[in-house]
Formats: sequence, structure tokens, C-alpha cells
Amino acid sequence: MAVRIAHVVGARPNYMKIAPIMREIEAAGTGFEQFLVHTGQHYDSALSDVFLDELGLPEPNVNLGVGSGSHAKQTAEIMTRFDEVIDDIRPDWVVVPGDVNSTLAAALVAVKRGIPVAHVEAGLRSRDLTMPEEVNRLLVDRISDLLLTPSRDAGDNLRAEGVDDRRIRFVGNLMIDSLVRLLPAAEARWPALQELIRTDRYVAVTLHRPRNVDDPQSFAVIQAALHEIAKDIDVVFPMHPRTRARSGAELRSSKRLRILEPLGYLDFLALQAHASAVLTDSGGIQEETTWLGVPCLTLRQATERPVTISEGTNQLVPLETAAIVAAVSEAVERERKTMRVPELWDGRAAERVVVALQSVISKS
Ligand code: UD1
Repeated sequence: MAVRIAHVVGARPNYMKIAPIMREIEAAGTGFEQFLVHTGQHYDSALSDVFLDELGLPEPNVNLGVGSGSHAKQTAEIMTRFDEVIDDIRPDWVVVPGDVNSTLAAALVAVKRGIPVAHVEAGLRSRDLTMPEEVNRLLVDRISDLLLTPSRDAGDNLRAEGVDDRRIRFVGNLMIDSLVRLLPAAEARWPALQELIRTDRYVAVTLHRPRNVDDPQSFAVIQAALHEIAKDIDVVFPMHPRTRARSGAELRSSKRLRILEPLGYLDFLALQAHASAVLTDSGGIQEETTWLGVPCLTLRQATERPVTISEGTNQLVPLETAAIVAAVSEAVERERKTMRVPELWDGRAAERVVVALQSVISKS
């Protein structure tokens, strides 16, 4: 009988990690039967449908339709609804990517039902427990059976926590699989995107972390910095709905500061690839800019992706107007520093995931 695998996605950064795995399972003729469950954590078309479409993900078999809410409510809703869906899908394995609330909720349900879990992007640690994602990462790694890591430091973190080496497989970065495959399609979008943004020398901005956008005082610091930066160079800011719903509604477009709706995967990839620098608080963008060689300034106190600093183009920036302005202006002027693409960020991580899955499944 075919081994039944349920992949659970919920939020924007999940799709580009699961798409390559689903493609590879299909292409490699594994005999696995796969199912896609969308929790509905992200429900806006701009944060979900566009991505499924552009990444070539199939229509989800089920959408749990949980929507927004407090962390407790959102997590509990996903758990309750996913638990019911398990009876229909009867998965032998559950695959969860990343560190969002959907990741934790699905992993908890599966483990309590005695279904083994594979965690994609295991082992990352910011060591900042005020980030909800850090709590999710710690818990999901603790209960998962197969820990698929994107970088060597992630494996080191897990071993330092006492995780048995046999549960860990260093497979590389799945987000980069999607980037490598779709960069040509993204480049084809550049002329139309350039017409929309009306510039080819700009800083791209994305911000949505609670610490930066929920507190009006923090956002005021950022807002002042963006206005200052826009005196020298165009600023293009596709705004996450969370940011708009919180402090971001205050921020108005001006001649050199363009606030846009969130972009799809291909457009945003093109926006990054052509930017003079990127200012962000995202996790995945730190990785994509490293691969693209575009300077990245990360508005956070810590990163769970240290190779983007040690080998890539990333730099942490404190939440102070002058520091942000100085870092951006230095990055825009700077000669591109010699960077290395981190080990196994080669577009072939999904192949190694499938090998890892086949090997653990054959032993179970
Ligand atoms: C979630 C993830 C975060 C990830 C981000 C990427 C958690 C804890 N956080 O944060 O790690 O970097 O996704 O986008 O899982 N909203 C909409 N439409 C939507 C979804 C959200 O308008 O489709 C707005 C709502 O105001 C909602 C808010 O965004 O209350 C927060 O959404 P939520 O899914 O809780 O977290 P994100 O901030 O998107």
C-alpha cells in the first residue's frame, strides 16, 4: 500500500518550502500518495492563492479555514480541525515546514495521534523567546521524528539540545530550491514590475514582526527612517496586511516612497533581485538576498539564520532611526562584499528530503 504523506501549510513562508518536496515526490516515482492541507492561517489571496499558483502547488485537498485570531485561538482551532481531517486522510507521515503557528499545531496533533512528523527547516534558533516563531521551532523540533536541517549550524543546535543524530538530516535550503527554479520566470516579470514601481534604483522594504509594527512607538522610529532614506533613494514597500492593520496605516506614499499591496512570489523575487538593498524583518528574505548577493539589513536583535551573516549579505540593524538610515546608505554605496552561497543551498534540497523520507519510512 502506498505510504500516505500529508503536507501542512498555513502561511506565506510555508509554500516555497513544500512546493519543491511535492514536485520531487511526484517526479521521483516514490509511490508515496501525498495530500496538501492548508490551515487557512493566511486567507488573503495575496498571501496565499497567488503563491500556490505561481509555485505550482496543487489545490489543497482540504482548507481548514481557521483565519486570524490570538495565538491561542488560532493554534487551538488548527488543532481541533486538523485532528478531524486526520480521520479522512489517514496519513502515515505528516510534513510541516518552518515555524508558524500552523507548523506547531499540526505537529502536536500528529504526534498525539501517533503519526510521525518530519520538520522541514529544523534546528534554527534565534534564542529570543519573545518571538512566537522561536517557541514554535523549539517545540516542533522536540516532538518531530525526522529533522531536516537547512544549514550545519541548525544540526549543531539540535545536537547541543541532546537530539539523537539519527533523527537529523542535513538536506539544505528548500526555499532556495524554489528560488533557483523560478528566478527566470521572476526575471520575465521585471519589465512589468518596473513600470509599476517606476524606478530601477531603490531599497525594497518588508516589515511585519509584532515587535516592529504592533507598537506605534517602534513603528514611528521606522517611519522616520524611511522618510529620511527616501530623500536619497526610492523606497518600495509592499505592505503585509498585518502592518497595514497596525501602525502602517499611518504611512503615506510620497514621491520616493511607494507603499504597495503585498506582491506575489515572482514579483517579489524580481523586486529583491534588482534592489540596491533590502530592509526587512523576515526570515526567508535574509536567505533569498544571500543567494542573490543583494545587501540585506535585518531589523531584529537576533537571527536564527546566522549563515546569512557569516557567509551572506545580511547584517542586523538596531531599531534606531539614525542606525537604520546609516546602514541603508552604507549598504547602497558599498561594493558588493564577497559572499559565499551556503553549503547545500544548491536548488536540490528536495531530492535529499525525499531520500531521507524514503530511508526513514523503509526502516519504520
Ligand atoms: C505569520 C507567522 C510569521 C510569518 C508570517 C509571514 C506565526 C506566529 N507568524 O505572521 O512567522 O513570518 O506569517 O507572513 O505564525 N492577516 C490578514 N490576512 C491574512 C493573514 C493575516 O489580513 O491572510 C492580518 C490580520 O490582521 C491578522 C494578522 O495579519 O490578525 C496576523 O496574521 P497571523 O497569521 O496571525 O500572523 P502573521 O503576522 O501573518
